[in-house]
Parts: sequence; structure tokens; C-alpha cells
Amino acid sequence: MDQLTRKAYAKINLGLDALKKRADGYHELAMVMQTVDICDELTFAVKETPGIELYVEWSKDGWTEPPDDFLNAGEAQPVPSDRKNLVWRAAELLMNEFGIKKGVKITLKKRIPVAAGMAGGSSDCAATLHGINELFELGLNLHELQVRGVKLGADVPYCLLGGTALAEGIGEILTPLSPMPECHLVVAKPAVSVSTPFVFKQLRVNELEAHPDIAGMCAAIGENNLDGVIDRLGNVLETAAIPHFPVVGDLKEEFKRLGADGVLMSGSGPTVFAIFKSEKQAWAAADKVKKTGLAAQIFVTKPV
Ligand code: C5P
Repeated sequence: MDQLTRKAYAKINLGLDALKKRADGYHELAMVMQTVDICDELTFAVKETPGIELYVEWSKDGWTEPPDDFLNAGEAQPVPSDRKNLVWRAAELLMNEFGIKKGVKITLKKRIPVAAGMAGGSSDCAATLHGINELFELGLNLHELQVRGVKLGADVPYCLLGGTALAEGIGEILTPLSPMPECHLVVAKPAVSVSTPFVFKQLRVNELEAHPDIAGMCAAIGENNLDGVIDRLGNVLETAAIPHFPVVGDLKEEFKRLGADGVLMSGSGPTVFAIFKSEKQAWAAADKVKKTGLAAQIFVTKPV
């Protein structure tokens, strides 16, 4: 095989709890992860000369609101096309380990919001591990890819798996769950970029007043009970992010006002997602949020 294409899906967190801070600075978490139908696309092509070439392109497909000036405003440029990109590091890791003499040309078509709490970088990284494994027929299984992936990022093992899952430890201990109950999602990313380490640094695990009911969330998913899922939406990183990025709180309020059945910040933010039972209501809410200017990117999507 000389060339292949893979999709890298974004994720949201239906639940995110932090249990304690470890000596190495990472936090022990309990998270309910869900992939959504917003994806980047990566193409991998064998090159006869050694080395990695990475090209990043932007695609606005699937955005309900691509502001005209977005791609010129610098917002779309924080994706590096060198070793700083996890895609590059994932390819390098496997190609060095297996002594691959040929090279690879990778094209990354971005759609997932960047620095958004949607694991876009981790998902691209996971797609690259899958892609290089397939392209050069390395024969690694999912677990073997996950062992390598966690060295590149805590969310990478989950992104290699995808779907609905409970993630524990730093995110690498995974239990697959049955699919999330059907619903419509509006995903909105404000025009601020948020650094995950910054948000975790603001988190005071020992001072948290409330913890989301992660076990109850898993049970509700098992029972295909959407109301049970909605009742248990919770993310402790909101306490760390919202004081610094008040637009996250404003967006949540706006979605509630527009009749969302549930609303939560995803991961370390600033992306907010709203759950709607009615597709019509989801599109209407997306349209109204667009007009508020609170979000730079808005998608109407579904769990996958
Ligand atoms: O592993 P990754 O590079 O994606 O993590 C980014 C940052 O998020 C870490 O440097 C750490 O500050 C924070 N983090 C954490 N606990 C986790 C996962 C990430 O504190 N379980």
C-alpha cells in the first residue's frame, strides 16, 4: 500500500472528575469520553526518500459559522507542521522503532477547533499511529499502539479506541461503554485558545465542592437513558477555566436560555457543547448563538 486516508474524530467529555494530583504533576481523573462527528482527515503517502513531510490545510466543511476573517485572523495558524506537531512525533516514534528506511508525506486537513478541549491534537496523533502502522504493515495491535500513544499524550490511548468510554488513571485506563443515547449536539468554540496545562494548574482538587457522578453516568449510558446522562453532566475543570475565560460561562447561559436539555464545557475548554433532543431546536439554537458572537466556530453534530 502506498497511500491511505484516516479520519481523526473530536471528543467531548460527558463527565470529567479529578480525584487527586500525583507527584509527577498529572491528575488522576475519571472521565466519560464520547467521540463526535467532527473530524480532521489525514492522508499518509510513502515517499522513497527518508524523512517526514507534514502539510497542514484548513477545511471549513462542517462549520455552521466560519467567520469570513477567521482564516486570516491568525486563529487558524497555531497548528505547527514540524516536530512540534504530535502527528510528526507519532510518525517519528514508530518509524524509528521499526527502522523504516522510506519516508512519509502526511497531509492534515484540520476542522476540529484547536486548543479547544476536544482532543484534536491527540486524535490526529492517534490517527497517525494507526496510519503508520497500516501503511508500513508494522502489525501492532490496539494495545501495543496505546502503550506507545500514552507517551505522546494522556488522551491518545482513548483516541486510538474511540466511541464511548470511561477513562481513568491519567486517562489511559479505558473501559468501553455502550453507545451514548441518540441526541443532537451543538458544539461551540469561543474565540479564545486555552492551554490544557494552564487550566490544570488552576485546579484545586482538594477544594472541590462537588464531584460529578461518573458511576451514575456510566450506568445511565448502559441503560440508554438520555435524561440520566443529562442529569449527570459535570466537569470539575469548569471551576478552573470559567474564572479566567468568562465567555465559557456566558455561552453556557446562552444555551440554557435557548432551551438546551443539557450543557457543559468539554475537557479543559473553552468549547461548550449543548445536548438537544430535538434536531430542529439544535439548529435554531446554533443559529441564535451565531448571532451573539460568543463563538468563533459552531457545529451541529452527533455522537459517533
Ligand atoms: O498528556 P498531555 O500532554 O495531553 O497533557 C497536557 C497537560 O494536561 C499536562 O501537562 C498536565 O498539565 C495536564 N494533565 C493533567 N492530568 C491528566 C492529563 C493532563 O494534569 N490526567
